Amino acid sequence: MDKFIINGKQKLSGKITVSGAKNSALKIIAATILLKEPVTISNVPDLMDVRTMQKVLEKLGATVEYCKDSSTMKIDPSTINSYRAPYELVKTMRASFQVMGPLLARFGNAEISLPGGCNFGPRPVDFHLKAFEQMGATITTEHGYICAKAEKLIGNHIYFDFPSVGATENVIMAASLTEGVTIIENAAKEPEVVDLVNFLKLCGAKIQGEGTGRVRIEGVKELQARDFTVLSDRIEAGTFVLASLVTNSPLEIVGAPISALEVFLEKLRLCGHEFEVHQHSLVVKPSPNPKAIKFTALPHPGFPTDLQAPMTAYLSTVEGTSLATEGVYENRFVYISELNRMGASIELDGNKAYISGQEQLSGAQVMASDLRAGAALVIAALGAEGTTEINRVYHIDRGYDDLVGKLSDVGANIQRVKR
Ligand code: EPZ
Repeated sequence: MDKFIINGKQKLSGKITVSGAKNSALKIIAATILLKEPVTISNVPDLMDVRTMQKVLEKLGATVEYCKDSSTMKIDPSTINSYRAPYELVKTMRASFQVMGPLLARFGNAEISLPGGCNFGPRPVDFHLKAFEQMGATITTEHGYICAKAEKLIGNHIYFDFPSVGATENVIMAASLTEGVTIIENAAKEPEVVDLVNFLKLCGAKIQGEGTGRVRIEGVKELQARDFTVLSDRIEAGTFVLASLVTNSPLEIVGAPISALEVFLEKLRLCGHEFEVHQHSLVVKPSPNPKAIKFTALPHPGFPTDLQAPMTAYLSTVEGTSLATEGVYENRFVYISELNRMGASIELDGNKAYISGQEQLSGAQVMASDLRAGAALVIAALGAEGTTEINRVYHIDRGYDDLVGKLSDVGANIQRVKR
């Protein structure tokens, strides 16, 4: 298992470029199952999770070629001849479950290994399954696999108790090729959901209301393959903003999707920081005397839960008491004990973290427990005195494209040590 060694307190400078959004690319790759002809997707980040989704499609029989240099993925779905996403792949990435909707709509059959728990608590798939049943599928569980079958899906009115990103996307994909009209109430509004819809619409899907809580999909008989470019990763961009702030160094973040980052930037303005918005980049101007703040992670357009951990790590260096509240997951504060080992002073009370800002964090040996927990440790390490050794960085590799290379290029002292 590789690790990162970071010597903190180095000033950063220059430009850092954002890659394509992981959480958009994964679903767009899954959506190509709905097509019958080859298609090219651009701005696909080079990530472990993207490689896993590539393997899932290959297992189904598709031909997939990824070109790292041009960040493009060519997918030929015409050869798909299996409907089974195996345990070995689904256990490493829950997003594999997103192939269920497209498989059901196109072939009337899907067998997906039941995703297990995850490092930040239970993450069920009941909304997905209930919606597919409402659309006419029969769902059974056999030997750890969820088997969904439908001679024919029919559009229906679907209400989610919580605006689940994955369930909204899975149903939108299935409904695009399903007879009749499907309406999703309390749909997720995340920019990645909108990006997926943009791709489907380009291919001929009839969808209205994306980005709102009510999405209407009128099924069509066939979709046409159309090449598409994935939007930039707002969570990666936000992580770079925090790298700039924790080191008190101005950075230019090229390709930052500004409108998708509004609430996050607004919170940081309350801390006292300033941002210059350019046509293709965001310039971060850190305040030398930032103030403590409160924030609550919520579904979009709320503060993104995927930036909750990196933001908490940053606030642990800001004088005063900040408050982070997690409103999406039951238990997304697992990383806090690791931050406290670096000298942070954070107390948990249910879904609230009280953060007493410290003048100085100190480097330590720590362990990433999930992707964004890993990003939080990188932020803390960049601002800490001394050397931090971050173990289990395979979690970080799932979602950050060449993080070590990109941070080194702007002056961070960070190395990957291979085991
Ligand atoms: C997506 O996960 C993202 N993953 C997550 O990114 C992100 O944290 C999450 O959305 C919320 O923004 C991908 O896009 C691949 P949800 P998803 O369904 O779709 C509950 C990262 O670090 N729920 O919106 O799985 C669930 O337990 C990650 O990049 C049910 O109860 O999230 C959670 O509390 C991790 N039943 C809440 O809803 C269901 O059937 C939101 O989950 C589905 C969800």
